[in-house]
Amino acid sequence: MARIKIDLDRRIGTVDRRIFGGFIEHLGRCIYGGIFDEGSPLSDERGFRLDVVQALRDLRIPVLRWPGGNFASGYHWVDGIGPRDQRPRRMNLAWHIEESNRFGTDEFIAYCGLVGAEPYICVNLGSGTIDEAQAWVEYCNGTGHTYWANLRRQHGYPEPYGVKLWGLGNEMYGSWQIGALSAEDYVAKAREFAKVMRMTDPSIQLVSCGWNGWSDWDRVVLEGLARYVDYHSIHLYTGSPDYYGNVLSPHLADFALASCQALIDRVRYEQGIDHPIYVAYDEWNVWFRQWGYDASVAGLEERYTLADALAVATYLNIFIRRCRTVRLANLAQMVNVIAPIFTNPEGLFLQSIYHQFRLYSEWTLDVALDAFVEAETYHLSSEQEARSPWRHRVARLGPFTLVDAACTVNSTGEEITLAVVNRDLQRAVQATIEFVGTAVRPGALVREVNGPGPDASNSFDQPAIVSVSERALDTGGSTISYEFPAHSVTLIRFHVA
Ligand code: AHR
Repeated sequence: MARIKIDLDRRIGTVDRRIFGGFIEHLGRCIYGGIFDEGSPLSDERGFRLDVVQALRDLRIPVLRWPGGNFASGYHWVDGIGPRDQRPRRMNLAWHIEESNRFGTDEFIAYCGLVGAEPYICVNLGSGTIDEAQAWVEYCNGTGHTYWANLRRQHGYPEPYGVKLWGLGNEMYGSWQIGALSAEDYVAKAREFAKVMRMTDPSIQLVSCGWNGWSDWDRVVLEGLARYVDYHSIHLYTGSPDYYGNVLSPHLADFALASCQALIDRVRYEQGIDHPIYVAYDEWNVWFRQWGYDASVAGLEERYTLADALAVATYLNIFIRRCRTVRLANLAQMVNVIAPIFTNPEGLFLQSIYHQFRLYSEWTLDVALDAFVEAETYHLSSEQEARSPWRHRVARLGPFTLVDAACTVNSTGEEITLAVVNRDLQRAVQATIEFVGTAVRPGALVREVNGPGPDASNSFDQPAIVSVSERALDTGGSTISYEFPAHSVTLIRFHVA
């Protein structure tokens, strides 16, 4: 049994659609062989795989982060502009593979245009220089007759790209990162980058490199960079071979966002900073099978199950509920590498996590409501927790309700979308959905992601084992009874009577 209570007056805030953003990195088959496949009959004349473009358009990704990830910390962007055949082939030290540089800044911007996404570029704070970062902003956004703006024109792009979002490095705290730094050294370096990048184009928005949102690194970086940035980034992956460990560990994101908001509030208060700072949750996903920083781990080609889709839905519920904190989030990644879209030279199939991500990006509405949920709870044990390679200590944040919900309403209050994840492995949950002071019309549309069991997984041979079913609800009123099947994600679109 569960009880969900929806009150249209209990508004949390506006859901920034950019929480449905994506991320592509020069890693494994994400770019080459994924979104970009020169000479393939499936690609256009520029080399963009059109089946992938369509799948991404359908996902409605509003923003795309590039070029990494770890790759960013060794990437010299100038290698990737100009005539493709003259671009240097370089060793990519982050992932120990050769980089042809045939996909570079101009290709990325064109690709964003094709899929309808805003570009978000992460600059090289590892082996890169201030001059390179400054030149990159000028190449993209310059309107004058400077060297870099003119070079962009010379390459056939007369109009400035107007890239607004710029990340000040990737995971610069990590020993695996090229040019890793202490938090204090990162602050000193990133501040100088921020100054010249903003002098070049005062309209850009900058993202400081955070860790998990609660660490000392985050505190030091926010204290040092709050004046210079608009967003602070968090990266957090979860995943476990243990079913409940897997579907419940995204609750760590809730802890991360709450902790980071507290850090941001304190720094803004103490330093008298007037401009807002939001969290950019710019890498997140389930990732535990092809795990590690070695691209030889099959290029991180994680194959996703229904359980993973429940975890991804839980993340998105949390982002919606924390919409006042997180204004930008990027599913890592989009194609082949820990991704919802999986290609081979002949075509693609959509992984389980694609379907529910798409449902959320299409169907959730603009204002988050604080829905009340009462349901059975589950305690994770430390043994279950220990099965995850991430070693996150999520058990102590529980217990968690097996039913997790996020509710959104449109600005006129006429439409409501309720998103419910039933993480109960065995049992359907009978729920009453109560609308406080209002009623809904019969005929609500229901879409559900489910499959034969938690391990169900799509493949080229069986592309629709995990898929979306749709039906209409014939009941209406102020209280509705609905049974949420075991291991399911359900979105219901109600119309207020
Ligand atoms: O997304 C894969 C890798 O995970 C990224 O390159 C890095 O930023 C993160 O650690």
